[in-house]
Amino acid sequence: MKINPVRGTHDLFGKNIKKFNKIISDVKDIAYQFGFNELVTPIFESTALFKKPLGEQSDVVLKEMYTFKDRNDDEITLRPEYTTPMIRAAISNGLLNNLPVKFFGTGQMFRRERPQKGRYRQFNQINFENFGSNDSFADVEIINLANLLIKKILPNKKIKLHINSLGTRENLINYKKTLSHYFNQNKNFLSSESKDKIQLNPLRILDSKNIEDKEVIDKAPVLIDFLSKENLNEYEEIKKCLNDLDITVYENTSLVRGLDYYCNTVFEFKTNEIGSQDTLIGGGRYDGLIEVLGGKDIPGVGWAGGIERMMLLMDDVQSQNQSIHLAILNQNYKSHAFKIYDFLIKNNLSVFWNYKYNLKKSLSTANEQKAKFIVIIGEDENINNHYTVKNLLNGEQKVKDLSNIMEFIK
Ligand code: HAM
Repeated sequence: MKINPVRGTHDLFGKNIKKFNKIISDVKDIAYQFGFNELVTPIFESTALFKKPLGEQSDVVLKEMYTFKDRNDDEITLRPEYTTPMIRAAISNGLLNNLPVKFFGTGQMFRRERPQKGRYRQFNQINFENFGSNDSFADVEIINLANLLIKKILPNKKIKLHINSLGTRENLINYKKTLSHYFNQNKNFLSSESKDKIQLNPLRILDSKNIEDKEVIDKAPVLIDFLSKENLNEYEEIKKCLNDLDITVYENTSLVRGLDYYCNTVFEFKTNEIGSQDTLIGGGRYDGLIEVLGGKDIPGVGWAGGIERMMLLMDDVQSQNQSIHLAILNQNYKSHAFKIYDFLIKNNLSVFWNYKYNLKKSLSTANEQKAKFIVIIGEDENINNHYTVKNLLNGEQKVKDLSNIMEFIK
């Protein structure tokens, strides 16, 4: 019986796992540099954690969550995103006392979307959150961090930063009302999918990809007209700081983001090299969300990036295998081989015993696996209690014993 992977899931191995691990290692380096601490949360949570905050009318909640009842009839959901679980964890563990606090995490998320290039049902996200500051520098800092990380992972790619401001929650409520009214007046020109969103989620119509909707959307009231002077000043300051940091900003007035909890600054890092799933990183401010989840009324700002999407754009990771291969020429020399094996392992080196007992096969395996050294154990080595060691990078070969082999290998 052959069992295939579940649709929208994939295994990681070979070149891809190297890319994956390089991303995780770059994320950790930059996180510690910027003073973010790691927070790991469970893969499943109570469904209630996601329903309201993500927006009961949003696609993620309506169609995409993997929700089930466990044996006690508890409603459980595989996390579709990381922001709400991080807030839940910060509240559950009393981590919101000395503000601001900064957390990051990486891990699998689950959304039952239609799979395509760059869109999967199980995928990995990088997530950075800053809880407790409404200083506009918190927005700048987290965008700067995203920009530097992207530069590190994808040094030669053109990635564009789109930014917008949604204004405060109140601005947004007023804007949504005006928008619903406008779309209602023009509903005969909208696609049926967009018509369904007029009352509950008019913002989502703005980023409809349906060409039928384009004309109505182009003439829709624009959010920036609803922003207060204070909002606008703050938005200008953020853009100026980003400019001072040499980050090119593309103002995108139709950027509203797919989840319901955003206000003020929203942003996305986009590419045009991987097709329609072109957003590598998305995030923004979510003042009010922490309170909705039972915490204090404190603001927050953060972002998440899709690891698989970054991997699609990333060059192969070149790495030299540090391991030392053993070429044991005959089963009779196993006990002499065992001495060097044990010695090298105890010196924290990586040793590869290939079970081949043949010089040619051992050399070809060592070269295939890009080993750095090979230790040859043949008749002469066995009789004289020494080892022939070859550096496979420069071809240098020496006869050594346990007392002096380390200086050659290091
Ligand atoms: P999001 O825009 O839903 O935001 O997802 C963030 C990123 O995750 C996307 O830009 C994309 O790279 C990746 N992603 C999303 N869905 C998929 C999928 N099905 N397959 C592959 N990659 C995917 C959030 O999740 C927010 N929690 C971000 C945030 C953090 N906002 C504030 N803090």
